[in-house]
Amino acid sequence: LDKSFMQCMLTIIGDYSKNIEKTVFNSSSLLYPKVLESLEQNPRWLNSSNKPLLIVKPFHESEIQAAILCSKEIGVQIRVRSGGHDYEGLSYLCKTPFIMIDLIEIRSIKINLVDETAWIQAGATLGELYYKISKASKVHGFPAGLCASVGIGGHISGGGFGTLLRKYGLAADHVVDAYLIDANGRILDRKSMGEDVFWAIRGGSASSFGVVLAWKIRLVKVPSIVTVFSVRTVEERAKKLFHRWQYIADKLHEDLFIRVVAQNDGSNSKQIIQAFFNSLFLGGKDKLIPIMNESFPELGLQAKDCIEMSWIQSVLYFAGYNNWDPPEFLLNRTTIYKSSFKAKSDYVKEPISETSLEGVWTMLLKEDTLALLIMDPYGGKMSEISESEIPFPHREGYLYNIQYMVKWEVNTIDESNKNLKWMEMVYRYMTPYVSKSPRAAYFNYRDLDLGSNKHDNNTSYSEASVWGSKYFKGNFRRLAKIKTKFDPQNFFRNEQSIPLLNI
Ligand code: FDA
Repeated sequence: LDKSFMQCMLTIIGDYSKNIEKTVFNSSSLLYPKVLESLEQNPRWLNSSNKPLLIVKPFHESEIQAAILCSKEIGVQIRVRSGGHDYEGLSYLCKTPFIMIDLIEIRSIKINLVDETAWIQAGATLGELYYKISKASKVHGFPAGLCASVGIGGHISGGGFGTLLRKYGLAADHVVDAYLIDANGRILDRKSMGEDVFWAIRGGSASSFGVVLAWKIRLVKVPSIVTVFSVRTVEERAKKLFHRWQYIADKLHEDLFIRVVAQNDGSNSKQIIQAFFNSLFLGGKDKLIPIMNESFPELGLQAKDCIEMSWIQSVLYFAGYNNWDPPEFLLNRTTIYKSSFKAKSDYVKEPISETSLEGVWTMLLKEDTLALLIMDPYGGKMSEISESEIPFPHREGYLYNIQYMVKWEVNTIDESNKNLKWMEMVYRYMTPYVSKSPRAAYFNYRDLDLGSNKHDNNTSYSEASVWGSKYFKGNFRRLAKIKTKFDPQNFFRNEQSIPLLNI
């Protein structure tokens, strides 16, 4: 198969032979393991046997077009990888033979301050984008995720949120144009792909429709001074404050974002639960303190807890660096907390009682490796955007997103099974306290336990609705309708791609 693929590439791109060694790698190539593993952000999959037949690392869009056409010709699937952060490894793993297209070299960013937009190629990371914006302007930013190594390609195609979500919504809410390569190798922009497809790729899984080459985004305004704080609380106080936080976090001033990260200390010995209240405020601390005194006095925030800084320093701070580190640190493409993990997500619509929280607190204490609950508040701009504006539907009425995460360093099957079991137990326990019918989940926190497509390309719409309605609610049918028209052969498919309506 790999010979036929190479031959096809040579036929499509005449002078390709000069570049073939730099661009296409098979499993006997010395660079194959290096290229494959460089961006695998979850080492849990390192020993997987579901590896690509060939890796294509294009330097030019014509190589992506050719790779699509040649994969089709030899009858194998493709997987596209931008930043490699997929929670289930779907950008670089597949049970049937496949070609992986790695977009790491397709990553230019062009900022245009005149119309406050930017064109970003899909292989760029959030860190590269934030860095470039800060070099061009001190009063512009972009509302997307916290982790600098996340790829723009996957992130925007699943929604994308971070510290600016209460003020500005999702990354996908700010896309104004895109280049998409379809199953016939055509490069389409917003006009030529049409408004339906343009709607679908912004949060509705672009990998079901084609390969995104670049997004055009609208930048947002940020003040020259912002304030951050991180207040650590433990045990009973942590629980009481988290309980209280649920009543106010989505109703705070939209310039104020306070997330909660509750965690054990990941050890076998006597553990304690800590909850960190991490916050970004779009303004100075003289404005923040009175707001906090009025809306969340229980936290007891004081001026000494607050640090004023520029927006780009706050990006470093939330990405896990020090705010005094140089912004160039954001250009590092490796996740700084890289270890094997499993995560799941939920949405909460009614505050959970203290007694019920006690149960999940006890479960955190039982786990002997690092286990976290990450709570991101919604409200603000998120409640103003309709559920069907883009495919991401979790808007008004959702108090916060909760992400359960367990991480481990020893990559053995026993360790992995133990932690997966723990995760199942927590998820089962939380059932009565989270959204229902459907139990909503965030697409970018991909979770194959929710269900997956069959490998014979024969999954019906109703079978896929089991997981699809959780991610997309009522938008799932529209996504399937658009998919059926745009990619009727279902060439762009994976374990959780949008199904055809007519199966
Ligand atoms: P990756 O390359 O693995 O792609 C993910 C999916 O998108 C795959 O199905 C892939 O095929 C598809 N895809 C990628 N590029 C494509 C392209 N050009 N065209 C079409 N399809 C493409 N989320 C969040 O909202 N806020 C946050 O703060 C964080 N933080 C975070 C930290 C860490 C450490 C991880 C591992 C993940 C997050 N995430 C997150 C989740 C993240 O948004 C999600 O995993 C994204 O899909 C990652 O996009 P990548 O391009 O990096 O992944």
